[in-house]
Amino acid sequence: MKIGIYPGSFDPITNGHLDIIRRSSKLFDKVIVAVVKNYSKKPLFSIEEREDLIHRSTRDLSNVEVDSFEGLLMDYIHEKNAKVIIKGLRAISDFEYEFQMALMNRKLDSDVETIFLMTSSEYSFLSSSLVKEVATLGGCITGLVPDNVLPDIYRKLNKNTK
Ligand code: PNS
Repeated sequence: MKIGIYPGSFDPITNGHLDIIRRSSKLFDKVIVAVVKNYSKKPLFSIEEREDLIHRSTRDLSNVEVDSFEGLLMDYIHEKNAKVIIKGLRAISDFEYEFQMALMNRKLDSDVETIFLMTSSEYSFLSSSLVKEVATLGGCITGLVPDNVLPDIYRKLNKNTK
């Protein structure tokens, strides 16, 4: 079975992430969206909440699973018997860091490949942090995150729905 692991913070999932998940679900038998437990960042949503938001946004994709992991991504990849890490690339600015991580992961295990899907152009400017900033400052984020995620963001930020 061809398993692809799509790791990330997903705080929260955006339509850019969803685009990558949808497209990779056509390339793999199973895609596991893996939320990293990264304690160095101050998240808006807890790990459980982020998993739930991803679940609700991917219900129609039968070969997509949602999970979380702690520690080294490569250990998690081994635990899941996967051989492919899926990443989305938005712009050249993403490239340097992603390239570094891909090479480090290859150093850790050369049998595991990182594949990059180019984000669809309409989402190339999109990031979870920008979505949170715009929403915090009262801007409209409709169309940037899955519709079912909007009320959760506004509730967290104590904002009225726009
Ligand atoms: O959505 P993000 O925050 O850009 O995702 C980054 C992520 C989770 C892919 C990266 O931080 C990661 O792989 N973390 C797990 C720890 C690890 O394996 N670090 C070494 C990476 S080469």
